[in-house]
Amino acid sequence: VSLSQAVVVGSGGQVARALRKRLDAGGSQVLLTSSSGRDGALPLNLAEAASIRDCFNRIGERFRAGPVEIFLAGAMTHVDRCEQERDLCRAVNADGPRIVAEECARRDWKLTYFSTEYVFGEAEYAGGAIGPFSETDPPAPTSWYGECKLLAEQAVQKIFGADGALILRTTMVFSWDPEGMNFLMQYLRHLESRRQGGMNVFSVPEDQVSTPTYAPALADGCCLLREQGHGGIVNLVGRDLLSRKELVERVIQEFGFDREQSLAGFRFLKTAELAQKAKRPLTAGLTHQKSEKLGVKVWSLAEAFAEVKKLRQAR
Ligand SMILES: NC(=O)c1ccc[n+]([C@@H]2O[C@H](COP(=O)([O-])OP(=O)(O)OC[C@H]3O[C@@H](n4cnc5c(N)ncnc54)[C@H](OP(=O)(O)O)[C@@H]3O)[C@@H](O)[C@H]2O)c1
Repeated sequence: VSLSQAVVVGSGGQVARALRKRLDAGGSQVLLTSSSGRDGALPLNLAEAASIRDCFNRIGERFRAGPVEIFLAGAMTHVDRCEQERDLCRAVNADGPRIVAEECARRDWKLTYFSTEYVFGEAEYAGGAIGPFSETDPPAPTSWYGECKLLAEQAVQKIFGADGALILRTTMVFSWDPEGMNFLMQYLRHLESRRQGGMNVFSVPEDQVSTPTYAPALADGCCLLREQGHGGIVNLVGRDLLSRKELVERVIQEFGFDREQSLAGFRFLKTAELAQKAKRPLTAGLTHQKSEKLGVKVWSLAEAFAEVKKLRQAR
């Protein structure tokens, strides 16, 4: 399978931008869709069925016959907002992906859907399973966001069959992204501001454990799996399983900040103390063994941070 004709749906996000870079480097002809009217992107709002269908018709006119790869990276990702705007979350994160899957299936286009660790976590609150979770563990979301992402996975599997489309579960995606809001950029901006005398304190939940994922590695893994024609559910995450407190300590150490001064700029507390609208998975994370067996390079944090450090020095 070559990814000669590809479409990135929801092309403005962090994952989508890494994917676009990888597809461009691989020589794919890439069409972008956007819900926010960016130049050059075809309009597609996942919350509106007609907008999805119109956009797919336009994609069909732009591409010649032959394989078309749809990468569905658009979503409503603000987990607390999803809890409050439940209808919108369901429309964007569950109904929209189902319609995308239907439109793909009837044209015989291939689909990759990006899902999340947040399909897990509820069992732990009842004294049950903790992570890292594998592809075959039974999902149990803690939040409406997670419920809707799981509904989308199920709809995709119903339409394409269990292995017909690729469902990639990931978590805590980070990259060098100067204006971005991923955890690494937030920590780095905060650490720099503290070093310059800033007095803000960053609250970090110490009881959340996960497997942070480098966006370019996710994009590489995604394209490799599709180039080989893989379908089904695959976790694509980093190699390290660690708590957010350990993560802060790793960032301080690897990026050369003073340990004592920097740690004073963080407050470590329990997730429950943050009183967030959406309940979070706690001892979670995703396994990487299946992806590794399929030939994906699983990146350690040290490898990813080494790349980020180079990009940061070059700024
Ligand atoms: N980041 C993570 O840590 C993480 C973890 C687990 C799973 N994921 C999953 O990975 C995928 C990408 O996440 P991300 O981190 O790249 O998210 P992101 O940076 O928040 O980007 C999401 C993008 O979705 C698009 N979008 C928003 N509302 C839309 C709508 N109504 N219709 C169509 N597109 C819409 C927007 O792009 P346009 O403005 O171009 O439309 C937005 O930039 C999502 O499916 C997410 O659930 C992410």
